[in-house]
Amino acid sequence: MTSRMLPLRFGSQTVLITGASSGLGAEFARQLASRGSDLVLVARRESKLESLAVELRDRFGVTVTTIAADLGDPGAAAALRTELEGRGVSVTSLINNAGFGTSGGFHEEDAERVRAEIALNVAALVDLTHTFIAQLRAGDGFLVNVASVAGYQPTPGFAVYGATKAFVRSFTEALWAESAGTGLRVLALSPGPTATEFFEVAGEDIGSGLPKMTARKVVGLTLRELKKPNPGPSVVPGPINTSLTIASKLVPRKLLLRAMSRASRSR
Ligand SMILES: NC(=O)c1ccc[n+]([C@@H]2O[C@H](COP(=O)([O-])OP(=O)(O)OC[C@H]3O[C@@H](n4cnc5c(N)ncnc54)[C@H](OP(=O)(O)O)[C@@H]3O)[C@@H](O)[C@H]2O)c1
Repeated sequence: MTSRMLPLRFGSQTVLITGASSGLGAEFARQLASRGSDLVLVARRESKLESLAVELRDRFGVTVTTIAADLGDPGAAAALRTELEGRGVSVTSLINNAGFGTSGGFHEEDAERVRAEIALNVAALVDLTHTFIAQLRAGDGFLVNVASVAGYQPTPGFAVYGATKAFVRSFTEALWAESAGTGLRVLALSPGPTATEFFEVAGEDIGSGLPKMTARKVVGLTLRELKKPNPGPSVVPGPINTSLTIASKLVPRKLLLRAMSRASRSR
């Protein structure tokens, strides 16, 4: 995917970031604004989006549009496009970052919450990508879909979440190949445990004993990957996370699943 690819200029992008009210999304907003990108920030908590927008406009002089929306609602992507057209904002790059995880034995999980997880992590991500893909392919920006190391192998105790992230990775890597010859960079970002609000939302104590990377480091490595002449299709930030994803391809499946089960029970 090199023929039409020009060096990436963050300063000429208008980047739509979903899940920008906290964690990785807010950090993408900060680091992109510091590189001169205009931004569209989307999440449900309007006051958080607004205070971030005020900070970024003041510090970096960029244009920041905020839109409060529940992306799990069917039709949210189309509504977002209509809203942006109404405001005269044209998006050149997209970061599908909004997502959450549910945990516990699948037989005990709440059906409605699992449905909402799939609606956000999978359906909304596909819808948003489909809504903006034509204009992204016409430009020289990027599409980053946030997957997870949990998508590199089944994750007992986190079964649906891991499956949604395996979907994101597979879907995104296919789009990477489909984008060959265009100016669009496509990247599946698969972080390992990262210090954000993620573990609070996922509930139980699942994150307590895990070493975590900072959102700052994860986002910094992702933007560095995007600057490469031919980035993607996937990036796994951090050497420990990278080794785990390599091991998950080499270890026999039964052994891997038993180890994953033990790890999940010990949390
Ligand atoms: N932290 C980790 O260890 C880790 C590891 C691997 C992958 N990830 C992935 O990284 C992404 C970002 O998560 P994070 O770690 O930064 O967690 P986070 O701090 O909880 O951020 C999640 C973001 O998604 C937004 N969101 C949740 N439900 C939404 C909905 N229905 N509509 C619109 N926005 C919604 C939240 O905003 P509102 O609540 O304001 O809507 C928030 O801005 C997720 O896709 C997650 O799966 C995280």
